[in-house]
Amino acid sequence: MFVESFPRSGLDETANPCLQAYQMSTPFDLIPTLDNLLFETAQSIDEFSDSFVPQTRSADERFGDFQANGVLPYAKRAGINPRELAQKLIDALPDSEDWTIELAGPGFINFTLSSRFLLRWIMEHGTAKNLAKVARTKEPEHVVVDYSSPNTAKQMHVGHIRSTIIGESIARILQYQGHKITRDNHLGDWGTQFGILLLAIKEEKVSLDNLGGDPIAILENLYRHGNARIKEEEYALLQARQELVKLQDGDPENLQLWEKIRDISMSSFLKIYELLDVRFDHSLGESFYRDKVDEVYSSLSDHKICQEDDGALVVFHPEHKRFAKQPFIIRKSDGASNYATTDLATLAYRQKDWHADQVIYVTDGRQRDHFEQLFLTASKWFNADDVKLPKLDHVWFGTILGDDNKAIKTRDGQPIKLIDLLEEAMKRAAEMVRQKNAELPEDEVEKRARIIGLGAVKYADLSQDRTLDYVFSWEKMLAMQGNTAPYLQYAVARIHSIFRKLNSLPTDSFTSARVPESDPERKLSRKLLFFPLVLKQATRELKPHFLCTYLYELATEFSSFYNQEKVMVDEKDTRNLRLLLCASTQAVLTTGLGLLGIETLEEM
Ligand code: ARG
Repeated sequence: MFVESFPRSGLDETANPCLQAYQMSTPFDLIPTLDNLLFETAQSIDEFSDSFVPQTRSADERFGDFQANGVLPYAKRAGINPRELAQKLIDALPDSEDWTIELAGPGFINFTLSSRFLLRWIMEHGTAKNLAKVARTKEPEHVVVDYSSPNTAKQMHVGHIRSTIIGESIARILQYQGHKITRDNHLGDWGTQFGILLLAIKEEKVSLDNLGGDPIAILENLYRHGNARIKEEEYALLQARQELVKLQDGDPENLQLWEKIRDISMSSFLKIYELLDVRFDHSLGESFYRDKVDEVYSSLSDHKICQEDDGALVVFHPEHKRFAKQPFIIRKSDGASNYATTDLATLAYRQKDWHADQVIYVTDGRQRDHFEQLFLTASKWFNADDVKLPKLDHVWFGTILGDDNKAIKTRDGQPIKLIDLLEEAMKRAAEMVRQKNAELPEDEVEKRARIIGLGAVKYADLSQDRTLDYVFSWEKMLAMQGNTAPYLQYAVARIHSIFRKLNSLPTDSFTSARVPESDPERKLSRKLLFFPLVLKQATRELKPHFLCTYLYELATEFSSFYNQEKVMVDEKDTRNLRLLLCASTQAVLTTGLGLLGIETLEEM
């Protein structure tokens, strides 16, 4: 019910209650506050009942700052003229110096924030420190983010970059909002690949202790050999299966080899995580759950959630269109556990031992069926056990395409190794840096190249709606113009240079400033105010591209402000306002990019 979802905070019933609540609010909850105000006011009007939902949202700039759309559907249901009803509500709303209200279209109510309000907001909240405060949620939760999750014994390839980058950004934004985050790298370290690899290691008498060269590449090659062997000879296939069974039964030799493979893989992953500035709290991996799968079989069997089917143990979902017939296999007919079994055991563990309120899985869109079936099965299982199911989200993404519009590959058709891609990004960025400034010392070139190159790769990925495929293009992502990381990093560097010339810091506070008056001042102020709301949208939909689009618009707005308004004017209050806008823009851009995992530079 409406009343529950919009708690009225600390109202002084003697004063105008609605306005009081409004003044106490930060922009982070401006929408609920306006909703509240409209709802309360409507209750004093005969035509409204408590089933009226105001539906306030941030508005297109042409229509003010916020728009309430709820009168229209309500009036239609009640058979009242919506414009007349909206006007009645507007007339009853208390006057405020903080906004103007207008009737629009078929019965919308538009709020335009006053310049005074905008200034007050920027003064109070527009620094990096205070931004963090307004963005904080009132309902912190424990969120487990399951991302990156490559398979051991293979190199991370370009397909894993999306999970790593998107997962990290979502974790950062949620953490910034005050949630407790557990980052878990769910490594694929217990799959069938090990039978094949163990066979190859033994046949080729390889010692894992001194592989030399690039150990992970050597492992990957061995795996390839092994794979070729089992395809050409049936006996080899049988041997590989036996090696896997031996491993899973705890054979000490195979276990030791497996551990070494895991170590070699982890150290190659760590190099990439370090470059990308990603740190996990756990890398439990599928192997961690190997002694927890029996519990899954017995519990699901006891609850009659699964059934035998051709020797396998499967779950059907009769209420679902496709999954009524398409089984979710939780134990293969040879008795082995699989991806589904581990995921069920993993979820139970995260609920029981970590008390997760929410679990977010970040993978390729091709795993959508798996997660849909997993969530359906888990919900029945938890329900039967009377355990609260954490909120489950599958954050899936599309494919990175090459020039030919097919999944990106090297020239000889191999998947591109992630490490090669990241190194190339830094190399290209270094050329850019040198071209701009030939005298720069080499260590500074390297530092800037890392920040610009890796920032470009991350941003190119994050700035697309994650559910879409996108074409990978060095030229586009490294461009200084357009919706790119270098463009945003440049905007930050430019603001630094303004303050450098002034010999002051953007963190210096400006106690006296006039209100924003001109169009560019107003537009920039308004944009700044929307930062916490955009974060809310990004985490509601678990899509970081909303933040990217916003930062790009902010940088563009700043650029047009800076081109039109001279900052260093004599009149002190005007200068202070403009410096304040510069400082606040810098705080929002730097914070926002940081939430995307992208660093900034003072000079570029
Ligand atoms: N290892 C898997 C892969 O490379 C991703 C694992 C995702 N996490 C999970 N809990 N299933 O595709």
